[in-house]
Amino acid sequence: MSLSPSQFDYVSTLAKSRAAIVLQTGKEYLVESRLSPLAREKGFDSLGAMIDSMTSTRGYGDIHKSVVEALTTNETLFFRDLHPFEAMEKKLIPEIMARRATERRIDIWSGASSTGQEAYSIAMMLREKFPELRNWKVKIIGTDLCSKALEKANRGVYNQMEVNRGLPMPLLVKYFSKVDEGWELKPEMKQMTEFRKMNLIEHWPNLPKFDIVLMRNVLIYFDIETRRKILAGIRGVLNRDGAMFLGASETTFNVDENWIVENHGRSHIYRIKPSVTPGRVLPS
Ligand SMILES: C[S@@+](CC[C@H](N)C(=O)[O-])C[C@H]1O[C@@H](n2cnc3c(N)ncnc32)[C@H](O)[C@@H]1O
Repeated sequence: MSLSPSQFDYVSTLAKSRAAIVLQTGKEYLVESRLSPLAREKGFDSLGAMIDSMTSTRGYGDIHKSVVEALTTNETLFFRDLHPFEAMEKKLIPEIMARRATERRIDIWSGASSTGQEAYSIAMMLREKFPELRNWKVKIIGTDLCSKALEKANRGVYNQMEVNRGLPMPLLVKYFSKVDEGWELKPEMKQMTEFRKMNLIEHWPNLPKFDIVLMRNVLIYFDIETRRKILAGIRGVLNRDGAMFLGASETTFNVDENWIVENHGRSHIYRIKPSVTPGRVLPS
């Protein structure tokens, strides 16, 4: 059954208000393919019946939450785009290690971490290339809106197809153990990471000041005003001498002009303009 225009409007308004995800006309197919399995799982005869039931229920219940989460795109892979990892290895981490030699602490944020591959890729790169960091306090915090993605990130178990995407074989052998469902990251990798539920358009609680922020492949889902607010929020949690990475198709240009771009190889490192006063974290 296809969605009626009013049912599609209802879903797109919900996605926009709860997660800032923009679903323009033409995305009906995406909505149907994501939500039909959910409707069956929740015991409805059809997707339309689920939406009708949601519209007649007051408030924001479990089904509403599951619908919003099902509309998120969780596509990710190990060492995605590679260039940011090279820039971290060759430039940023050595710089931070020199600057923080007394504190011996590095904080990295994998914003919109999805199922965790980005955060674990950083952990493996650090162990592999900077063994001396074993004696440092290194924390990679992954945050996402989607509970299912976070659950998977926390478990750190990936199937064969997932480890085939981007993960070099020597790292698989070294940092994972074989389990029934595939491959599980070893405890020392899990100890370097922490995954939390956080909606980027709501309050950002208890985040430390970060040395590096990766906010990749998520701003594309948002309108310009939301992107601007999130970039301002990042200025509030990024150390003045810190660095940010966006996805390959994302930019601060014409969105938030308070950044400068440094090119390193083929990656763009975003830094807060020295003249800019720190941004404020988004209000709750
Ligand atoms: C395409 S994945 C990107 C994963 C990873 N950053 C990468 O580049 O491979 C986008 C992620 O953004 C999350 N997301 C979407 N809207 C969000 C919001 N409002 N707050 C937090 N996370 C959100 C989704 O749940 C999804 O896991």
